[in-house]
Amino acid sequence: MIMITGATGVVGRETVRLLVEGGAQVAAVTRDPHADLPAGTRLVHPADATTLDGVEAILLSPRATGAAAADLLAHARKTGTSRVVVLSAVTVRYPAGHARFRRQFQAAEDTAKGCGLDWTILRCTDFAANTLSWAGQIQATGTVRGAYPEARTSTVDERDIAAVAALALTQPRHAGQTYLLTGEQSLSQPEKVAAIGAALGRTLSFAEATPDTIRRGLLAAGLPDEVPDRLLGSLADYAREAGPTSDDVRLLLGRPARTYATWALDHRAAFTADGGRRA
Ligand SMILES: NC(=O)c1ccc[n+]([C@@H]2O[C@H](COP(=O)([O-])OP(=O)(O)OC[C@H]3O[C@@H](n4cnc5c(N)ncnc54)[C@H](OP(=O)(O)O)[C@@H]3O)[C@@H](O)[C@H]2O)c1
Repeated sequence: MIMITGATGVVGRETVRLLVEGGAQVAAVTRDPHADLPAGTRLVHPADATTLDGVEAILLSPRATGAAAADLLAHARKTGTSRVVVLSAVTVRYPAGHARFRRQFQAAEDTAKGCGLDWTILRCTDFAANTLSWAGQIQATGTVRGAYPEARTSTVDERDIAAVAALALTQPRHAGQTYLLTGEQSLSQPEKVAAIGAALGRTLSFAEATPDTIRRGLLAAGLPDEVPDRLLGSLADYAREAGPTSDDVRLLLGRPARTYATWALDHRAAFTADGGRRA
């Protein structure tokens, strides 16, 4: 059995799907007893994750497990688990943004490396799904307001991360490896907005706003400080120096990483008010 923490997130959900499709038994860790996951998936509450035996490999999602990761992995080690795969971030290797976010990922990596299991680290850049946060503005006005338009990253398609995670969870040859998972094209924010526009057949625009305006808007929308801190901190650094680009996805999957344009096409329904019925 393979345990997926953060199973209802964009990466966890797709990893569950790929593993179930490949015939694996999957334990999906979620606080939601009614989580809509593939038939046959065993739903496990986070509080019960340390009572499960017979787990061969674990996908560790640092946001979902937090400080409980150490207990989870200690139990796994005692009960014969072989492997842990960590969803980490490129910032561990290429610092950008506030150090406290980088330290959370570093701590998760350290926990995995020190637990006695074979480990694989997946250092991911920003997920394409992060740009779903633009959907409301695109639907309402066709303009995305944001700070640091020139910030460039090689955004990764979360489905590619899941495909790599599924390999690392099931193949021993990835033990002791650290992979950098990015797309292959470094794009600015207006270029990403234009790609969504191309997918929708509409002209969209990006309007620059000051970081302070964006921060106040996010806080007024009820989001915690952590959100603007995380977002604006890294964008400021990526405006000075583009985020990293790697060909690890291509090397691991034997095909190019999905492009942001492909992601936008596949998700265009999310950016239309009618859910894509006219797309
Ligand atoms: N987004 C990025 O650009 C990026 C980049 C690098 C690394 N990462 C990391 O990649 C991992 C996967 O990201 P994701 O977007 O697929 O998943 P996610 O949305 O961050 O979280 C996945 C699931 O974990 C549970 N969860 C979230 N916060 C929690 C909390 N505070 N306490 C307990 N459970 C919590 C929720 O599941 P239930 O409600 O079902 O319990 C959620 O659906 C995360 O650890 C993230 O930090 C993300």
